[in-house]
Amino acid sequence: MVSASAASVSVCLILLLLGSLMGPVMAEVYFSSLPRNLIVSASPKPGQVLEAGVDNITITWGLNQTLPPNTAAAYKNVKVRLCYAPNSQADRGWRKTTDDLKKDKTCQFGITQQPYSEVNSTFVYGVERSIPSATYFIRVYAVDSSGAVVAYGQTTDAKKKADLFDVVGITGRHASLDVAAACFSAFSVFSLVFFLVLERKKTKK
Ligand SMILES: *[C@@H]1O[C@H](CO)[C@@H](O)[C@H](O)[C@H]1NC(C)=O
Ligand SMILES: *[C@@H]1O[C@H](CO)[C@@H](O)[C@H](O)[C@H]1NC(C)=O
Ligand SMILES: *[C@@H]1O[C@H](CO)[C@@H](O)[C@H](O)[C@H]1NC(C)=O
Repeated sequence: MVSASAASVSVCLILLLLGSLMGPVMAEVYFSSLPRNLIVSASPKPGQVLEAGVDNITITWGLNQTLPPNTAAAYKNVKVRLCYAPNSQADRGWRKTTDDLKKDKTCQFGITQQPYSEVNSTFVYGVERSIPSATYFIRVYAVDSSGAVVAYGQTTDAKKKADLFDVVGITGRHASLDVAAACFSAFSVFSLVFFLVLERKKTKK
């Protein structure tokens, strides 16, 4: 007994030690700590509905010109991402926003990654067929030479309410009908069984 608890204590200590050693290596970046230094715009009008696999989005980004140019001295690359708006995240843990960017599920879809440029950059993104039906915005992360995110910009406001657009996914165009059909057939099997059981009970009595 004594040796077992001693063993578990030492396992705990080893885990703690490992944790503290790994801490600085896996430095966490919190979204709330990032400056919004990039200005990002995209072609969809607020509320516009785009079709996955069909429509294109033109995205433009650059440093906020009122900031001193050396603000961007450490910017090496940019990552442009497609992000879920809050109304498409509700009750969906797998899309949840977390301040720790390693755990954040808001911006799951990569659009492009390219070297940071001092002049405004533009990219035309063909909405991929795999993009699910949802409401979105676009965010651009500036990344330093170590790969750490150091700044951002996005097409919506801080509350992620303004300038959102919708994508209708490939499956979304037919899925709701399929789901309804599946529900109905499941329900009819269930009611058949239910009535058979009921009938049996009646005849037994
Ligand atoms: C999207 O861009 C592609 C490639 O440039 C083009 O062929 C296509 O017609 C565009 N789609 C729309 C809806 O503008
Ligand atoms: C650009 O930066 C200035 C100064 O920080 C700020 O007041 C302004 O709101 C920014 N512009 C945009 C569009 O974010
Ligand atoms: C870059 O984009 C910003 C915001 O859209 C605009 O104010 C600025 O004039 C642009 N700069 C250049 C060099 O085009």
